[in-house]
Amino acid sequence: MEPWGRLVVLAVAITAVVSSPLANKLQPGKEWPTRNSVQQPQDVWLQLQTSTTDASDLSTTELPPEEQTDAAIEAIEVTTEENNVILRTSDSENDPLEAVVPTEESNDILVKSLEESEKVDYSGAQVWKVPTSSSKVRSLLGNLRSRNMISPWGGNHSYIDLLVKPEAINNVSQELRKQSVPFDVIIVDLQKRIDEENPPLDENEIELQDRQGHRMTWKQYHRLTDIHGFMDYLAKTYPRIVSVNTIGKSFLGRDLKVLRISDGKPTNKAVFIDGGIHAREWISPATVTFFINQFAENFDEESDDVKNIDWYFLPVVNPDGYEYTHQVDRLWRKNRRPAGTRQCLGTDLNRNFGHHWGGKGSSGNPCSDIYRGSKAFSEPESKAVSDFILNSAAEFKAYLTYHSYGQYLLYPWGYDDAVPPDYKDLDIVGKEIAQEIQRVGGSKYTVGSSSGVLYPASGGSDDWAKAQGIKYSYTIELSDTGRYGFILPTSFIEPVAKESLAGLRVLARKLNEA
Ligand SMILES: *[C@@H]1O[C@H](CO)[C@@H](O)[C@H](O)[C@H]1NC(C)=O
Ligand SMILES: *[C@@H]1O[C@H](CO)[C@@H](O)[C@H](O)[C@H]1NC(C)=O
Ligand SMILES: [Zn+2]
Repeated sequence: MEPWGRLVVLAVAITAVVSSPLANKLQPGKEWPTRNSVQQPQDVWLQLQTSTTDASDLSTTELPPEEQTDAAIEAIEVTTEENNVILRTSDSENDPLEAVVPTEESNDILVKSLEESEKVDYSGAQVWKVPTSSSKVRSLLGNLRSRNMISPWGGNHSYIDLLVKPEAINNVSQELRKQSVPFDVIIVDLQKRIDEENPPLDENEIELQDRQGHRMTWKQYHRLTDIHGFMDYLAKTYPRIVSVNTIGKSFLGRDLKVLRISDGKPTNKAVFIDGGIHAREWISPATVTFFINQFAENFDEESDDVKNIDWYFLPVVNPDGYEYTHQVDRLWRKNRRPAGTRQCLGTDLNRNFGHHWGGKGSSGNPCSDIYRGSKAFSEPESKAVSDFILNSAAEFKAYLTYHSYGQYLLYPWGYDDAVPPDYKDLDIVGKEIAQEIQRVGGSKYTVGSSSGVLYPASGGSDDWAKAQGIKYSYTIELSDTGRYGFILPTSFIEPVAKESLAGLRVLARKLNEA
């Protein structure tokens, strides 16, 4: 669209927001009430302009100097966010080892994606689980990482899951053996796993899809159009309790669709749930849409605890990344916005939120998987979430953000090893949720603060939500604990979603008791 066309659209949008009636209670199926403040979509538009049109600026943006030599990497810490691990030097916490100049690999992937849209092939790549207790091992891994032979997946204080490139397998295994480090090969051929993960539906299921008026199932990982079609279907079918709003657009112009389930009682509390901030964590949108389906289709049979809440769901925060994982690179994590270099793109949306943005466990290097963006809320997707939460008249009592993997239930803070004053309340409720998940489905979740259980990671959405006064703010790392990692077969969707739903009902009960 031409800039003037965009301006006109924006002007219309702004007028619509300004002129919408401010109500203090929900009107089901009608306007969603906003606070007496108006969002500034112009900011987002200006940022888009800068990033897309000013190519000369982009190419001159300075990258962090390539100063890390192998010698400098004496001791590294293995840093994970939820599951995504950075290896970093011990002497400069905010300068992750990843912060080196663009790698050949990232360049290749980008070229492929832009020019051929050919699928990235992981044939022969493996995933290994390696103990990280010794500093010698951490140093070795940092070294291998900087030579681009391995890429961190998930992990915790004592173990790390590593993707090992085919050409590096011999070398890395010899290096580990030299240090007497035992390791498990958990995925022998990653591409084979990817090929087997999401098989097409059989005839019966396709027939079922056709009968139910939307294409969504929980037997497959679905594309964005199926998810959005499902949400629109529910709004059309249950207008009394379900409504859908587009709260913004992704960088590439895809809708950010929020679905609300509410019976409109003015005394209701509000809960915001999102999924798919990280593109490759497919179990997350699948689980969030399962919640939506359950509450919308069976609202009358639901408990008062559920009915006394206005539920807001954004199942795919990062639609560009999500589609990219289906079409090009199954293991893509970030969004798809050019980030300031020709070689690399994408911002980690879960490092782009505005509470202690730019701190520990995030990277200033656009080639990094944990690139934080040029400033807090530089990305249209994270900006839309924050604008929506800030401008909504709903008083959110809980914010849940679903990720994978590792089976952790994490509360703030993520930005540093600290907890909020009321952390005990979050810990107690978190443990009750975890207990119920284990009772119903058998999965064992570890409960604690993000920075405490894992490692510091600043700019996360849960920290930001907590800082806005949303008391029960959690990041939930769904299954598994590393057998399949991100490539969780479709047969896991229903069991994972069911036990997670049981946990969500516990939260609903606790909110009603409070
Ligand atoms: C860390 O990971 C290992 C291997 O996956 C697991 O056995 C261990 O229980 C994990 N620790 C915590 C605290 O979750
Ligand atoms: C692994 O590769 C590096 C260079 O890429 C080399 O210095 C090292 O000796 C190799 N290790 C083994 C065990 O082959
Ligand atoms: Zn994640």
